[in-house]
Amino acid sequence: MPSKSCNVVVLLSGSGSNLQALIDSCAVPDSAVRIGAVISNRADAYGLQRAAAAGIDTAVLDHTGFQGREAFDAALVACIDGFAPDLVVLAGFMRILSGDFVRHYQGRLLNIHPSLLPRYKGLHTHRRALEAGDVEHGCSVHFVTEELDGGPLVVQAVVPVAPDDTVQSLAQRVHTQEHVIYPMAVHWFANGRLRLGEQGALLDGQPLSASGHLIRS
Ligand code: GRF
Repeated sequence: MPSKSCNVVVLLSGSGSNLQALIDSCAVPDSAVRIGAVISNRADAYGLQRAAAAGIDTAVLDHTGFQGREAFDAALVACIDGFAPDLVVLAGFMRILSGDFVRHYQGRLLNIHPSLLPRYKGLHTHRRALEAGDVEHGCSVHFVTEELDGGPLVVQAVVPVAPDDTVQSLAQRVHTQEHVIYPMAVHWFANGRLRLGEQGALLDGQPLSASGHLIRS
């Protein structure tokens, strides 16, 4: 272990395959990443079981028990900060976060989105890419800002669309790439290589292009 590892808190609502990829990526000598906790707004999220199996602390904060977004987000901040994170990673956390939340974690909040942003913000990205006849699709890791799915891009994986692709087949190939680029970006951050500057994301002190670091499969 490095003298001080980067304490990461992961938020999720579902299967947690991206969490699993991150857990697996830490099984190397001297990993700079340490997953301190996994928090879900859903008690039935399978990602919680993955975390428990890896010996990671978990917490559930059910949004339906709160009067509105601000109240839930304030409780969520308290829960997250109880684990003193250096970085907060959204991995399929199906909640829109308030401005206060996002500002609180500015520069230490990452998200992964299943499209080549800025294309297809929001939901149903694979279907929308197919319906548009795109020849390329993919996924993006970005710093989170107040604009939904709109923060500075860190890394994108480009996935070619095959003529016979279905939503399922395309989603599966994009997911595989998510499991490559998300751990990569988290380890960059943990190793002090990635940060959010005033004009956008910086890797090794150099500004990344508007689309972030590009990977083609
Ligand atoms: C991924 O497709 C990610 O891009 C999106 O939510 C999904 C989470 O999948 N933000 P999983 O729970 O990590 O399998």
